[in-house]
Amino acid sequence: ESTVPALKDLFANDFRIGAAVNPHTIRTQENLLARHYNSITAENEMKFVSVHPEEGTYTFDEADDLAAFARKHGMALRGHTLVWHNQTGDWLFKDSQGGPASKTLLLERLRSHIQTVVGRYKQDIYAWDVVNEVIADEGDALLRPSKWLDIAGPDFIAKAFEYAHEADPNALLFYNDYNESHPHKRDKIYTLVKSLLEQGVPIHGIGLQAHWNLFDPSLDDIRAAIEKYASLGLQLQLTELDMSVFEFEDKRTDLRVPAPGMLERQAERYEAVFRLLKEYREVISAVTFWGAADDYTWLDDFPVRGRKNWPFLFDEQHQPKPAYDRLVNLT
Ligand code: XIL
Repeated sequence: ESTVPALKDLFANDFRIGAAVNPHTIRTQENLLARHYNSITAENEMKFVSVHPEEGTYTFDEADDLAAFARKHGMALRGHTLVWHNQTGDWLFKDSQGGPASKTLLLERLRSHIQTVVGRYKQDIYAWDVVNEVIADEGDALLRPSKWLDIAGPDFIAKAFEYAHEADPNALLFYNDYNESHPHKRDKIYTLVKSLLEQGVPIHGIGLQAHWNLFDPSLDDIRAAIEKYASLGLQLQLTELDMSVFEFEDKRTDLRVPAPGMLERQAERYEAVFRLLKEYREVISAVTFWGAADDYTWLDDFPVRGRKNWPFLFDEQHQPKPAYDRLVNLT
């Protein structure tokens, strides 16, 4: 393994190369991470419920460990995430009587959460996913239904960016979403971010989660999404890249090793994708994978429970896969 060039060096003139990590993988994948990646994101440990499980209670131990890991290895650190409809405690949306919180109360709590969390990592985190996944996948509605929207109306989005900017004027602030390359959702993300910019909201980038698979999205759709987002004059990052070997709905849970041909197809797909990303190196500032090697991926349980997946460039023994060789030979 140590004979292959480091991934981060392959793209040193293009973009940072990141990985999502957690308390388990910083122990079990430390060598691999240190050698190949120059950025990390906390997979779960900086989410609302992780750092602020109850009113007045902040728990930063695991997040602090990940920040220390980044410092130890001289890696950049991305913050993920401040406003989301998942992994956020119910208490936030309730008043002291157990009824729904008022808009004023919810926004006050949001501001103090952001001040505390963004303020704490000011020296470490260079970019935050401020708002995550607020666009509706289907239909005409722009925003997905959520308690945030119920209570505060659409204002919570602009407010989150304003609070984050106030807490750390140097941090790059991102809007982050999935299915970001599908035309319908792409246009809605564009509409949202454009209107934020027109209102003078401090927003500096769009995060393309890039939870992709061997079949979807098409290269043409990826290109069109990049072009459209870049036309707003913002920087782009791929924030959660993985390349599932299954179609989204594939129900097969019996594979213990990749089926014949899967890793070859994955290699071709990674090659084509990175060739495309390099064309846009002026606007894409980082590519973060949602993990580092196939021994651990959230896709082993999502969206199909118990369906083992192999989405990364390194295998379960941390050895480079066929896709890796394609990237070495790209340039
Ligand atoms: C996922 C984590 O990987 C899982 O461990 C957790 O159970 C659920 O969240 N979009 C995001 C990420 O923005 O925060 C999600 O991470 C994956 C989808």
